Amino acid sequence: MAQKKFFIETFGCQMNHHDSEKVAGTLVQMGYAPTDDSSEADLLLLNTCNIREKANQKVLSRLGSIQKSYGAKSDAKVGLLGCMAQMEGEKIFAKAPNVDLVVGSSSYSFIPRLINQVEEGMRHVIDVTQDTDRLFEAYAQSRENPYKAYITIMEGCNRYCAFCVVPYTRGPERSRAGSHILSEVRRLASEGYQEVMLLGQTVNSWRDPAGEISSFAGLLREVARINGIHRIRFTSPHPSDFHPEIVEVIETTPTVCNQVHLPVQSGSTPVLQRMKRDYTREEYLRKVALIQSGKREIALSTDIIVGFPGETQEDFEQTLSLLAQVRYDSIFSLKYSPRPGTEAYAFGDTVTEEEQGRRLMVLQEFQRKIQLERNARLVGREFEILVEGRSQRDAKDLMGRTTQNKIINFPGRPELLGNCVQVRVTGFSAHSLQGEIVSH
Ligand code: 5AD
Repeated sequence: MAQKKFFIETFGCQMNHHDSEKVAGTLVQMGYAPTDDSSEADLLLLNTCNIREKANQKVLSRLGSIQKSYGAKSDAKVGLLGCMAQMEGEKIFAKAPNVDLVVGSSSYSFIPRLINQVEEGMRHVIDVTQDTDRLFEAYAQSRENPYKAYITIMEGCNRYCAFCVVPYTRGPERSRAGSHILSEVRRLASEGYQEVMLLGQTVNSWRDPAGEISSFAGLLREVARINGIHRIRFTSPHPSDFHPEIVEVIETTPTVCNQVHLPVQSGSTPVLQRMKRDYTREEYLRKVALIQSGKREIALSTDIIVGFPGETQEDFEQTLSLLAQVRYDSIFSLKYSPRPGTEAYAFGDTVTEEEQGRRLMVLQEFQRKIQLERNARLVGREFEILVEGRSQRDAKDLMGRTTQNKIINFPGRPELLGNCVQVRVTGFSAHSLQGEIVSH
């Protein structure tokens, strides 16, 4: 019998992408082969996101016409994984009757059993229990990038921000043992990975369940001690748990990248309070001052939500003034989307879709100018970059990132892939830099 093939499409955050790598590893162990061609897959999986309504709609429309969207074989089994699966549960089968399998984000450890049931011909196999004291410890992983690897260090969230589904989709916070994390990093180093990205919904809330490593900053130090790993990143920290010790580790440890993504969501204290963010504008800005005051220049990025219920023009201007003050290297900005089950779902005083759109455009244009100004100043400077792949703009060029996570496209030979090289910046746009290799 020919080997069965699977295809996974992943939506959403890095956590989801990494979950897909673990699911893929599990399927390979079960005897499946991965394929990039959805039309030849026997098993078609969609790993979904539920952060905004739009993400849901996209998946539902894909499911509505599996044949059209994926050119799928008529007898291909279809599985829905991830956060939308977790939230919707049984309801999916009514909305998309062609789905054979629904697996929530806390049930991946059961994938072998669930897939076997689907193979045996069971229809509508489902597991969305929140088996909450467990993490998905997958021993086999099929990693997408040969140079940089994601590592889960914690999962879930206890913060219950008023706008956010994560505590419902991912369950409560639980941390992975420090010793497990370190042995995974050691294995990755021996396999030749250059970079690791420590992942968690509130990554800096990590606590060693074994009590061996004292803090998240301590974990960063331990990871940095492992030979062979040149770059260590982490995402996303919550501002409230962002302690000076983390900045100290970045300052004193060259392999811990000088880059922090610190989601602020809004620049207005009253909005932050209604969002239940647990910090004021001033408290957030004090953390930023700490990050920006060090000897090592640390790049900063953030997430912003525009048009949260009750956000006035004045509140919005507070967000613009925060951007002007911090001068982030990049931002990720979205219109607020009401999510069933969250506290803010019931809030009145909503901002119209049109006004949300207007604010988003103003915000993004404001930030674009900041980025152009910042990037213009980098022309002539030299950076070490890890060469990650081909440039998206011009396939003849290569693309790499600086330790500050800035993208540089430059002409170079494919043999450089996976290496660290020194590049001089020769040009810029708002979102990336152009460069040339420095020959010594
Ligand atoms: N609407 C819009 N954006 C949201 N985010 C989370 N929930 C919502 C929502 N309901 C954004 C936040 C978060 C990022 C991952 O997604 O900015 O930091």
